Amino acid sequence: MKVASPQREAPRASAVDVARRTAFEVVRQVRRGRTWEQAWERRGRAVASGSLDRRFAMELASGVVRLRARLDFVLQRHCKRALAELQPDVLDVLRLGAYQLLEMDRVRDGAAVHATVELAKSVSPRATALVNAVLRALLRAARDIEFPAPERDPRSHLVTAGSHPEWIVDRWLRRFGAEETLHLCAYNNRRPRLSLRVNRQRATATQVRERLPEALSGFWSADVVRAPEHGWEQVRPLLESGWVSVQDESAVLVTEEASPRSGEVWLDLAAAPGGKACHLAERVGDAGRVLAYDVGAHKVQRIRDNAVRLALENIVAAEGNALEIETPSADGVLLDAPCSGLGVLSRRPDARWRKRPGDLERLAELQLRLLESARRRVTPGGVLLYSVCSFEPEETTGVVERFMAANPELALESGQAPEALRYAPGILYFFPQRHDVDGGFVARWRVGSRAR
Ligand SMILES: C[S@@+](CC[C@H](N)C(=O)[O-])C[C@H]1O[C@@H](n2cnc3c(N)ncnc32)[C@H](O)[C@@H]1O
Repeated sequence: MKVASPQREAPRASAVDVARRTAFEVVRQVRRGRTWEQAWERRGRAVASGSLDRRFAMELASGVVRLRARLDFVLQRHCKRALAELQPDVLDVLRLGAYQLLEMDRVRDGAAVHATVELAKSVSPRATALVNAVLRALLRAARDIEFPAPERDPRSHLVTAGSHPEWIVDRWLRRFGAEETLHLCAYNNRRPRLSLRVNRQRATATQVRERLPEALSGFWSADVVRAPEHGWEQVRPLLESGWVSVQDESAVLVTEEASPRSGEVWLDLAAAPGGKACHLAERVGDAGRVLAYDVGAHKVQRIRDNAVRLALENIVAAEGNALEIETPSADGVLLDAPCSGLGVLSRRPDARWRKRPGDLERLAELQLRLLESARRRVTPGGVLLYSVCSFEPEETTGVVERFMAANPELALESGQAPEALRYAPGILYFFPQRHDVDGGFVARWRVGSRAR
């Protein structure tokens, strides 16, 4: 089924338009091993910021990367040669054409074929006829695509129409069953929602909504406003004036569960780009302080830039490895650990194809070491918070169980996040298919006995 896409003119007849060329370059870079962010950073500049061309290029490139398996399934039905035998550039061109025909309802079919053939001419002139023939065959049969039926064979459906890798589908089918896994994969394939966290120091959710009349309230947090789709131009001035930050509700809920108090000192040991550190700073106020660390100077600079934008003077950001750095102890310590990111696949089009099953065990070892290091920095009576944007058992309850076995004196203790998200005392799980927010996990402990 096609999705609404930016309205645009058909491309000029004699040249490959800049939006499609940009999309092609980004897709090619990702295929050659760059991450989506790196590829977009390098190639996305070719299209003017805020322009329709940019939106078109972004939608096309991200869609092709995300739905690669779905597009290949369809293309293979209409291509006499095995896709694996095609020149990789030509296959990318075909994917770009197929995405426009199948998924972008406002692109006229004729324009999609014409523009893709022009692109093929510039990329590999000898492949022009093949590209033309495959796209025209696909067009003729477009209403007839027969994916494996989800009721009969959910696994095959999800690895083709659902465009997810087999190992991820198998894992989720075992854990959640077919119906939930279908919803989860559908969430990952949707355009990610533009969710805003209101900076309570500068504005209220009501004021933000007055400036964004079509916005909706958050599902779970009073500090979240869901901006209208394609609302970037209206949101930009609010971001620049420090009224809001872009943050999914599941990330906002991490700090709500932390439940920092005015005047407290918090450490954030894996803080870049600073979403949660800034939220903590908004909550502890001028009398409190947040010390935010991350590895790499450019990452630390992003925390500082965010703090400046939000006019937060109570954050100190510094470079440091959380396993080694010396810090003062604090009332609260947040470890928002590096993780597989399998809960946020909708936001990173390439991520599902990069992850490997072995990543989970490897990351769990690092997470456990980081958590031990975080625990040592909590003032007696303070709070320790562990979060990941994943709901995989290895990185969540697996880490918590091993950590608690080594630290039996610690007590899980719930914070102020909504009870409906609670899995057990002190533990939250966010599942996209159940809660309509990005996936994630939080555990919260009281360290020592002093009750608050
Ligand atoms: C999930 S991200 C943090 C997101 C951040 N808390 C936010 O809300 O904006 C994990 C971060 O951990 C950092 N990281 C990884 N290993 C680290 C280490 N040994 N010490 C400190 N930071 C580390 C990564 O650079 C990355 O920025």
